[in-house]
Amino acid sequence: MTAPIKSIKVGLVGFGTVGTGVWETLQKNGQLISDRSNNQFKIDIVKAAVRDISKKRIEDAPDTMFTADWNDVVSDENVDVVVELIGGTTTAFDIVAAALKLGKTVVTGNKALLAERGAELFALSQEHSAAIHFEAAVAGGIPIIKAVQESYVGNDIESMVGIINGTSNYILERMTDAGLGYPEALKEAQELGYAESDPTLDVNGWDAAHKSILLATLAYGSVIDPEEVYVRGIERVTSTDIEFANKLGYATKLLSVVRKHSDGQIELRTQPSFIPKSHILSSVNGVFNAVAVKGDASGDSLFYGRGAGKEPTASSVVADIVDAAHTISSGSPHRGFLPYSEDSKVKSIDDTSTPYYVRFDVIDRPGVIADIAQVLANDGVGISGTHSPVDPENPDKEFVDMVFLLHTCTFGKLKATLKKVLALDSVNSEPVVFRIENL
Ligand code: HSE
Repeated sequence: MTAPIKSIKVGLVGFGTVGTGVWETLQKNGQLISDRSNNQFKIDIVKAAVRDISKKRIEDAPDTMFTADWNDVVSDENVDVVVELIGGTTTAFDIVAAALKLGKTVVTGNKALLAERGAELFALSQEHSAAIHFEAAVAGGIPIIKAVQESYVGNDIESMVGIINGTSNYILERMTDAGLGYPEALKEAQELGYAESDPTLDVNGWDAAHKSILLATLAYGSVIDPEEVYVRGIERVTSTDIEFANKLGYATKLLSVVRKHSDGQIELRTQPSFIPKSHILSSVNGVFNAVAVKGDASGDSLFYGRGAGKEPTASSVVADIVDAAHTISSGSPHRGFLPYSEDSKVKSIDDTSTPYYVRFDVIDRPGVIADIAQVLANDGVGISGTHSPVDPENPDKEFVDMVFLLHTCTFGKLKATLKKVLALDSVNSEPVVFRIENL
């Protein structure tokens, strides 16, 4: 083998779990990467900003590589590629913006940053001819960003439906299969390193929503305002509904839906949904993620893999660094994503339609089913089934769960009708609603 002709120098900001994974992957597979570039380049991590400089991270890394100041990384003139791995949307923004302004390629796995502040950063990327690569921002080790950006370039993408938060998926699975309560399942997910250090965004749906925004931005070319996206997390999912779902033939999953409608509007929503057990997405368990993509030319495809964790995320970061290295070593203009369309119109959640599962807490007295059915009938909301378990130990129990499965209608219509149902004397509290997804 001839020696690579160029060293591409990388600076990391953040050297935690993923940073360590990137270092180890490059140590292990660096030669393979050079070979695959036809020995055009080799990749060297030359600088890393860390919070605590006294902490020894990697035995074979020289101490001189570490600094406590991210400016030392970004402004080091040897550094060609800045890898941002600290998360958040404030300091991370300053780091990425500073690197782009210096014309440096940025690699980041920070979905919150790009979903919340992508407009500003992509503008800087364009202005300074410096690419932002973000494969690690969506679905960990699954190469979905590159697929949407490159492999589907000849398709109009009709939909992308995904399970894209490993923590939520792990928690829901443990609640379903092991009967764990929500807090115990969350604790396990944290111990396994799936959740973010602050798991709020994992469980309130926003981690998945940020990822879905990035998928929609790539597919439809426009920056999307997070305020327009409908997001519900798993914090209030109870084992009662998981068990009902199970009995009725559904799996409960935190699902993100990105779908382009014929009027050009984009349906963009994340929520716990019921998926038929016969659908392949229902068997995506644990920390695994999956994204089902439908292109007008390609038809249906499914991307499946590890959505979180040290090595899978490092795999995506390294792929981005290699992409950057190709661009830099060949001196070509950047091929990173740039928005190409005006703001997309996100469809109002009230105008989106699915069938529904609705559970009412009712007083069990004669006529209660008829009363609810009458309100639904008056509003033209069809019932496809009802379910109400009887407790053989306690047949006279006063309050019971009454489940209705409803035919497809808009969410707006459902909400208006349920308001009327809630006004009935025999209905005790706000009904619990899950969408049943037509996949
Ligand atoms: N915490 C995320 C998850 C992984 O649980 O999927 C990184 O996005």
